[in-house]
Amino acid sequence: MIDTINWWENNLAEYSNTLIDAISNKQVSMGMKTREFEEAIAEFLNAKYVLCYPSGTAAITAAIMQRGDDIKDVYLPNRTWIGTANAASILGKRLIAIDSDNKHQNMSASGLAKSIERFNKKENPGTVVFVAINGSYKNIDMVQELVSQNKLGLIIDGCQAFGSEKETTRRLIKNGHTICYSFGMPKLISTGLGGCLATNNEQDYNNLIAMRNQGLSITGQETGLAAINGFNFKYTDMQACLGIEQMKKVEIIIDKHMEIIKRYREGLNGSFAVAKEDADNAIVPLRMEIICEDAKMMAKYLKTKNIQSSLRTDNIIDHPCFQGKVRHLELNNSGYYSGRILVLPSGPKQKLESVEKVIETLNEYQLDKVNNNNSN
Ligand SMILES: Cc1ncc(COP(=O)(O)O)c(C=O)c1O
Repeated sequence: MIDTINWWENNLAEYSNTLIDAISNKQVSMGMKTREFEEAIAEFLNAKYVLCYPSGTAAITAAIMQRGDDIKDVYLPNRTWIGTANAASILGKRLIAIDSDNKHQNMSASGLAKSIERFNKKENPGTVVFVAINGSYKNIDMVQELVSQNKLGLIIDGCQAFGSEKETTRRLIKNGHTICYSFGMPKLISTGLGGCLATNNEQDYNNLIAMRNQGLSITGQETGLAAINGFNFKYTDMQACLGIEQMKKVEIIIDKHMEIIKRYREGLNGSFAVAKEDADNAIVPLRMEIICEDAKMMAKYLKTKNIQSSLRTDNIIDHPCFQGKVRHLELNNSGYYSGRILVLPSGPKQKLESVEKVIETLNEYQLDKVNNNNSN
């Protein structure tokens, strides 16, 4: 029987000893190991402060919460994973979905400008959540400018962008913005579930520490009474142990991942359109994505060859739970991508021979299609 090629391949078994050590040393819930993991991430990102969370969604929720109850409106791209929208929605914020750019999937700056003009309340400006889709920060400079012109807040959802565009990331953190990451399973660095938030703003950091612990502490020292509203946003040392080990070889993990992306870029050889962000050498895309006319049909075809793939997320307004609840202007560009993006197999433990098999299968499919068209 031919082994199935999984769309994401990772295995954390090599770190199991560190987990056993942690439990034996009573390092189970949030403590020193979490701190150590946070420090390793802070060093990698060149950030002053990093806090770990139970998930990327929780990190974004905390970042939005930190902006305060007065902020009612959250601008976010229509094209993102539903977690971005759920983070704002659970806090009772009003969502405003922004179209993609006409050249790529990221938030359109002109779309954001039009929505600000239409929806923004000068007396109570909202917050923009910019999503670095598949590792891409395209349009971030224009978004930043609009944010400062209109006195909005800016949070970066980097859940698909850990390790990508280091210079941009460092500049954003230096400028005082908050970036959130995910360490869920289909991520380059994974602690099973998990996430973090990076900031250089000391006041934000102190509030966030308190918020993470039900609002009970301001500087890590519990006061017994909650000065601000919070939640149980705590992480665990057990997860942190897995993260610490991966951070020791983060550059190797990224390099190996980029080898997979390179194989796809070269091997697919123009037979499939590659999403813009995947074609850009400066970006560490989280996944290899191709644009197909019918991604569902392509996924079915690959399955017949024992190859798993993943249909890339639909748009926010496509989800029944958000229909009629999200304000927006024109969303034609993001509409184009809906149902057209397919994620090809990758992940830290994906074998290069499996990647070659996927490339071969896709190229054969395309060749058959061309031959069929010619003979008709
Ligand atoms: C863009 C984006 N935002 C938020 C999230 C949520 O992260 P998590 O699954 O860790 O909650 C994800 C997860 O992949 C994501 O891709």
